Amino acid sequence: MDIPNIRLCSSTGADLERHIPEVARLRLQVFRDFPYLYDGDLDYEARYLRTYSQAPGSLVVLAVDGERVVGASTGLPLMAATDEVKAPFISHNYDPTTVFYLGESVLLPDYRGHGIGVLFFEAREAHARALASDPESSFGPLRHLAFCAVERGHEDPRRPASHVPLDRFWCKRGYRRHPQLRTSFSWRELGEAAETPKPMVFWLKSVSGNSSERI
Ligand SMILES: CC(C)(COP(=O)(O)OP(=O)(O)OC[C@H]1O[C@@H](n2cnc3c(N)ncnc32)[C@H](O)[C@@H]1OP(=O)(O)O)[C@@H](O)C(=O)NCCC(=O)NCCS
Repeated sequence: MDIPNIRLCSSTGADLERHIPEVARLRLQVFRDFPYLYDGDLDYEARYLRTYSQAPGSLVVLAVDGERVVGASTGLPLMAATDEVKAPFISHNYDPTTVFYLGESVLLPDYRGHGIGVLFFEAREAHARALASDPESSFGPLRHLAFCAVERGHEDPRRPASHVPLDRFWCKRGYRRHPQLRTSFSWRELGEAAETPKPMVFWLKSVSGNSSERI
């Protein structure tokens, strides 16, 4: 990473509690843009982020510039995630105790393109591998890393001309799109009066990095 003053640190439990308002504001700001177009509120955000401060095995990686949190990336064992995240795995005969779920990565635009997104993946993958190899760990044999992304049509008129999908970035990190693993998340989009469901598709990689494993 080639930008000065930035440091990455992992935050869990009480330490994360203290950062929740800042991370909540960051999510609201970053997810307002295409493709999420999220018109959220701070109370919901605080409740959502508390899942990460309370769930055993979870992790939030913060990117901090001086004292300011400018990026955050989350992960937790799938068993601690909501039902709509777990459902596609259960219906496709995955053992949900074997999946580590990568929640999101958000980074302020001025800090993009310097490798922080890659470090977010590396930190969360290392955390999942450590959980998987710890004989004292109460988690199942973690085998899969998974995240999901919203599906937007190519001809969506709200797509900015400059928007580049992250698919290549994710492929380069070794993740593969699994179109059969889908769910929906509900949120209020900019211009909507109420929440509506949005289609989400999962991307997977094996915890061991072994691409021949069935994922
Ligand atoms: C996803 C995100 C955290 C990546 O952060 P980043 O620090 O800019 O990523 P990096 O600098 O590590 O870039 C890694 C690679 O992805 C590419 N890349 C990063 N952001 C990109 C973007 N928005 N569009 C296209 N390519 C992008 C870089 O060119 C680089 O390519 P390379 O590996 O071939 O060199 C950041 O773009 C972001 O906050 N996006 C908005 C929120 C979002 O969509 N999050 C993901 C879903 S939760």
